[in-house]
Amino acid sequence: MSDYQSMDKNALESELKNLKAEYEDYKAQGLKLNMARGVPSTAQLELSLPMLDILKSGSDCLSVSGADCRNYGILDGIDEAKELFAQMLGVKPENVFIGGNSSLNMMFDTIACFSENGIGGEDPWLLQGKIKFLCPAPGYDRHFGVTGFFKNIEMITIPMTENGPDMDMVEKYVEDPTVKGIWCVPKYSNPDGITYSDETVKRFAALKPAAKDFRIMWDNAYCIHDLTDTPDTLLNLYDECLKNGNEDLPIMFCSTSKITFPGSGVAALAASKNNLDVLKSRYKFQTIGYDKLNMLRHIRFFNNYEGVVAHMQKHKAILAPKFELVINKLTEELGDKNIASWHKPNGGYFVSVNVLNGCAKKVVALCKEAGINLTGAGATYPYGIDPNDSNIRIAPSFPPLDELAKALDIFCLCTKIAAAEKLLDK
Ligand SMILES: Cc1ncc(COP(=O)(O)O)c(C=O)c1O
Repeated sequence: MSDYQSMDKNALESELKNLKAEYEDYKAQGLKLNMARGVPSTAQLELSLPMLDILKSGSDCLSVSGADCRNYGILDGIDEAKELFAQMLGVKPENVFIGGNSSLNMMFDTIACFSENGIGGEDPWLLQGKIKFLCPAPGYDRHFGVTGFFKNIEMITIPMTENGPDMDMVEKYVEDPTVKGIWCVPKYSNPDGITYSDETVKRFAALKPAAKDFRIMWDNAYCIHDLTDTPDTLLNLYDECLKNGNEDLPIMFCSTSKITFPGSGVAALAASKNNLDVLKSRYKFQTIGYDKLNMLRHIRFFNNYEGVVAHMQKHKAILAPKFELVINKLTEELGDKNIASWHKPNGGYFVSVNVLNGCAKKVVALCKEAGINLTGAGATYPYGIDPNDSNIRIAPSFPPLDELAKALDIFCLCTKIAAAEKLLDK
């Protein structure tokens, strides 16, 4: 019998004994494998290398407007970069602000701006006492790190469903005027790989928050990061907001971190004129302008949006087999054990596994002892606390296939050991 939950005590004891013997063998191998952070592999980084020497002369450094990109200026980025990111985010170029090398940095600056300068004509968040931010979870740990950094912000966990955040809860919470925003990764969410349904997007666009300074932090980090030929489609939030007279609601973000080079790509945000005016009134003191040469290198390398989409096919060819391997291993090893569940993503960078309640920390610790590094259990929840101690994020992108296979074998083994021990009450 393979369903652990229906095994009798003796059978499970004997299964655990075998699992532990297997585990000791792995431990003796002194492995050092990493499935912790979602970073592109070396082969993926090589894809964009020609970009680095694409600007060869002074005339190569001129933007379409004739501006010399080697020099100071153009706070919100060159026109051709706005055009490209507008297509990625599904907005008009005039709604785009091109930033530096990191969208997370722009998200932090946005929260800092609203905290110190206010938004929507309201007082700065820092002067409003305790405020709240909605955090769909499991979610991106660094989002929670940003809002956690601001000590007046209390983070409220909103459960994720197959269609996105629990919208009944979101609609209820926004009736509270101290609720000021929500984090969203609407396509191939980190870590679940879920794309918000059309209904979810429509309900976001139709929100009528009590707080005039409520904003949706729409982090579309994986907007074109498909892994299959039948990718998910995401309804355009900005268009839906326009229909509802709610264009001030979203602040949208993306970057080329997982298209070209993490840490050396180009990031952008998109927002209504009202929101952009407030953000620019702060950015103009923060910088004279971001790295326009890097914007230009990206433009010259891709030519246009279609060029970016074609480039993503090359990433897909490297990444898809890794995700396939993860899903196959999970299915083979855990599929019939009734001790874990997961979602098969059509894109993004993660597979999120829910092990038996109370077992995630144990699985991560067992993996660590056997040389497998995973994202810490709890990291996918606000304050690093997973109330069920169940969610584990697997990042398959970096290790080569053979290492990934071994790491997955050990992960599945540790999941089985933790489950058997839990069921035997050990
Ligand atoms: C959802 C999400 N947003 C943002 C980022 C970071 O983006 P950037 O490199 O543009 O700062 C990541 C990186 O893993 C991510 O998963």
